[in-house]
Amino acid sequence: MTEVNRQVLLRKRPVGVPTVGDFEATEAAVGVPEAGEVLLKNLYLSIDPAIRGWMSEAKSYLPPIGIGEPIRSGTLSQIVDSKADGWPAGQIVQALAAWESYSVVSSRLLHGKVTSIEGIPLSTMLSVLGGTGLTAYFGLLEVGDPQEGETVLVSAAAGGVGSIVGQIAKVKGCRAVGLTGSDEKCAWLTEELGYDAAINYKTTNLRLALKEACPSGIDVFFDSVGGEILNTALSRLNRHGRVVVCGAISQINEAKRPPGPSNYLQLLAKSARMEGFTTLDFASRYDEARADLARWINEGQIRYRDDIVEGLDEAPAHLLRLFSGEHRGKLLVKLADAEV
Ligand SMILES: NC(=O)c1ccc[n+]([C@@H]2O[C@H](COP(=O)([O-])OP(=O)(O)OC[C@H]3O[C@@H](n4cnc5c(N)ncnc54)[C@H](OP(=O)(O)O)[C@@H]3O)[C@@H](O)[C@H]2O)c1
Repeated sequence: MTEVNRQVLLRKRPVGVPTVGDFEATEAAVGVPEAGEVLLKNLYLSIDPAIRGWMSEAKSYLPPIGIGEPIRSGTLSQIVDSKADGWPAGQIVQALAAWESYSVVSSRLLHGKVTSIEGIPLSTMLSVLGGTGLTAYFGLLEVGDPQEGETVLVSAAAGGVGSIVGQIAKVKGCRAVGLTGSDEKCAWLTEELGYDAAINYKTTNLRLALKEACPSGIDVFFDSVGGEILNTALSRLNRHGRVVVCGAISQINEAKRPPGPSNYLQLLAKSARMEGFTTLDFASRYDEARADLARWINEGQIRYRDDIVEGLDEAPAHLLRLFSGEHRGKLLVKLADAEV
């Protein structure tokens, strides 16, 4: 292969919110797979808060990205050369690869074969029908256990995960209330996605706004933000309420581990529970979830918007939008079309 491999590397570890100066674009030779490996052409990059975690030195479920290494990322990729049984060239896959045009990875980092579904764009396999939709599906339905008529509050509601959570709550006959950081995004939630109410947490008194938007209290709080939003929502939790700990994006750029939720005794007072999860906990049931999500899309019960920019060099600035909130729906970077 004569093509070069364009890459975006970790130049230095971010202090606080990352900047584009923490990244460096470069070119390298395209790798050659060895036994058990495949060479991937990366088609789309999934831009996720988890990447910020891997950029720090903190130990996590995966080791930190090394300085000078390409940024690790979920991808939608096509196999162009294979030395791994069962993974033929031409197959489109979800993978854990990197911000580069080509990646050599072990077949253990391939997270499933992707077959396109008529009427649904390929990129959706990395958003609603990929990790984002699966996180919303299992976090809400398995951890939150919403019942018809209950109130479901969602933080980061206009983001990739949150925009799907509220719509699944509506499918299940719940009242869906979203928190987000602009009036424009509030309008998108209520006017296009079917949320019953939306609150701009940046411009309102959240305690009072929750009282108005959740008159019967909160039965399920699907939280991706943590911090003060979590503390305030806990006060309105109903008896036997459930707090789904999906993420804590308000804490992700903090150098020091923050103090726990100071309002946690609400859980005692309400006989409530707070439970975390990772989407991987449900890996054996992804097909079942994808079938439901695809059906809801086709029936018009789930609407979505993927925020896609083109070109590898755009990836750092797109990642920063997770923290500024300047986006709606799932962030993706398109690198190439699939070969047919
Ligand atoms: N448990 C799992 O397995 C799992 C898997 C995937 C993702 N997650 C978590 O799911 C959450 C959402 O991920 P996503 O990829 O869909 O991201 P996203 O919601 O599309 O983007 C993050 C959003 O969070 C809001 N935000 C950022 N900083 C904030 C702050 N300091 N306070 C309040 N809101 C803030 C911004 O929207 P506003 O304009 O509304 O502020 C931003 O758009 C993250 O916490 C992520 O870690 C968990």
